[in-house]
Amino acid sequence: MIKDSKIILVGDGAVGSSFAYASTILGIGRQLGIIDLNEDKAEGDAMDLSDALSFTKPKEIFKADYSDCKDAEVVVITAGAPQKPGETRLDLVGKNLKIFKDMIGKIKDSGFEGIYVVASNPVDILTYATWKYSGAPAEKVIGSGTSLDTSRFKKEIASLIGIDPRSVDAFILGEHGDTEFPVWSHTNVGGLPIYEWVANHSEVDEMALLDTFEKVRNAAYEIINKKGATFYGIGMALARLVESIINDENSVYSTSSYLDGEYGEKDIFIGVPSVIGKEGVKWVIDVPLTDTEKERMKKSADTLRKVMVDSGLVEDKN
Ligand SMILES: NC(=O)c1ccc[n+]([C@@H]2O[C@H](COP(=O)([O-])OP(=O)(O)OC[C@H]3O[C@@H](n4cnc5c(N)ncnc54)[C@H](O)[C@@H]3O)[C@@H](O)[C@H]2O)c1
Repeated sequence: MIKDSKIILVGDGAVGSSFAYASTILGIGRQLGIIDLNEDKAEGDAMDLSDALSFTKPKEIFKADYSDCKDAEVVVITAGAPQKPGETRLDLVGKNLKIFKDMIGKIKDSGFEGIYVVASNPVDILTYATWKYSGAPAEKVIGSGTSLDTSRFKKEIASLIGIDPRSVDAFILGEHGDTEFPVWSHTNVGGLPIYEWVANHSEVDEMALLDTFEKVRNAAYEIINKKGATFYGIGMALARLVESIINDENSVYSTSSYLDGEYGEKDIFIGVPSVIGKEGVKWVIDVPLTDTEKERMKKSADTLRKVMVDSGLVEDKN
């Protein structure tokens, strides 16, 4: 039996603890169990976060083990090895695939039947691995995908045109990585296409608009250069994804979702607008793209597929 709004977090590093803090502040869920290789850190964070409860909402926060996943509604995975100097991206994929095989095996063995939410990188590949190793239905496996990138994109456009970021309708699609792309053709404010907004507002420079996406693509590199990691933005993105599941909100986020023909792609997890509710991904929204955007989606999917083949996660079908 799944316990309503019981959340288990696996990986209590910078991202995991930011998610734990954001979800505590927002009052999401009634139970939060924390698992990490570093058990003292998990226990210390559970104690520290519990100290905030008289200011937030009642919740039980505790150091957990894998058997606690049994009746959880959501398991959030932010565990993973960081990239070491001199290590290639593929080396990192191999290392994290091994960690995921072991970790997902333990979650599955607990009897867990809820929703997996994955943030560890490379997130699209590790979301596929979670689906494959767990045997769960594809709609119950969600990667954070380009939800953070989309939030950054909305914020950049918002600050350029002087609008609340929540009122900008925009999406970054594709791989959470270098081949992601903005869907300019459907970017709008209050229903007005962004190009028309720029044409109507002479104070907004078109080049500055195009530059907003460059800023998004470079944001992670820039933040990592300055402080070593990014965690508050993704922590909040994860908290909202989990809230959408627990409250059955049917909110739309660009998550790494399974494609079965949408966008002309099959057998892949990649960032696309998805309706998120109690059952996980309720629908993938198949936005009609321009030819250029279609090409960019294909390039992004091909890039992910090559990593999956090279790492042995999927067979080469060509
Ligand atoms: N999807 C996104 O948008 C996004 C954004 C930022 C970071 N990330 C990714 O999130 C992941 C975590 O980043 P971080 O900065 O928190 O790293 P971190 O090193 O601070 O934390 C990782 C945690 O995972 C734990 N861990 C490692 N192997 C484990 C295992 N087998 N079982 C349980 N716990 C284990 C470690 O002890 C550590 O506490 C990375 O893969 C990072 O690239 C994703």
